[in-house]
Amino acid sequence: MSQLENKVAIVTGAASGIGLACAQRYAAEGATVIGMDRNLSSDWPSVEALAPVSRFHQVDVTDGGAQRVAVAETLNEFGVIDILLTAAGLGDGGPVSMLDEDVWDRVIDVNLKGTFLSIKAVLDAMMAQRSGSIITIASVEGLNGTEGGSAYNASKGGVVMLSKNVAIDYGRMGIRCNAICPGFIETPMLNDVMGLMPELKEDVIRETKIGRLGRPEEIAGAAYFLASDDASYVTGHTLVVDGGYTAGHSHGIVQMMGLV
Ligand SMILES: NC(=O)c1ccc[n+]([C@@H]2O[C@H](COP(=O)([O-])OP(=O)(O)OC[C@H]3O[C@@H](n4cnc5c(N)ncnc54)[C@H](O)[C@@H]3O)[C@@H](O)[C@H]2O)c1
Repeated sequence: MSQLENKVAIVTGAASGIGLACAQRYAAEGATVIGMDRNLSSDWPSVEALAPVSRFHQVDVTDGGAQRVAVAETLNEFGVIDILLTAAGLGDGGPVSMLDEDVWDRVIDVNLKGTFLSIKAVLDAMMAQRSGSIITIASVEGLNGTEGGSAYNASKGGVVMLSKNVAIDYGRMGIRCNAICPGFIETPMLNDVMGLMPELKEDVIRETKIGRLGRPEEIAGAAYFLASDDASYVTGHTLVVDGGYTAGHSHGIVQMMGLV
């Protein structure tokens, strides 16, 4: 029997990319999955891809009230919330001198405050249950700086710290909280960015020690582990899943020595 059998999981950003892959993996492992996303149209994402999601709420994560309603409906129907995975997010930024204040506000609002509001919406239920696993999707850009990263890096660095603080504050109540820091993962978000800057893809692949971009399913694998009882003693952790992008720099020395 899978470790997620009979578990109830809420996944934000469930309509695309990493959130969708996590929702599909959780469902495949036997969980009842409640998806939240601001987008739900008949043709995007495909209804078929969302089929494993038991319920879908069209919610903007910056709206704390709407998230609370979705959580209340989930509790009403299923009685518990075992897992929260927060993948709703957007990428934007630029050098500070060139960055409009409203772009800064939007990125921080969705990526950081949205994550805070999602966690806040489930905590009462998890405290009452005295159990729960919260998994946030941060980024390697929340650990290291990136050229032009500004708002995005700040928002993801905030998510890493928020996740540690939730682990500290609620660990004694049986609630675990961990952040996943993906590297560069092939999703609609990354394809948009790479479409604007085609040279970036080659450069990123050169810096990624495994030599390719990541797949959303590879983040879902880590998200499955953190949600499962195999991770029962793992909390406050930042799990980097980046194909070695942040392992260190590579200057081709071993190739010069004939290793590859
Ligand atoms: N793709 C990558 O390389 C990468 C790397 C590191 C971190 N991440 C993070 O992973 C998460 C998922 O990104 P992705 O690459 O799958 O992107 P994506 O664009 O494919 O999916 C993001 C989803 O979040 C939803 N969303 C955006 N703003 C929302 C809001 N305000 N309320 C509700 N839903 C909202 C979108 O509608 C979309 O369905 C993001 O937080 C992103 O920052 C992605």
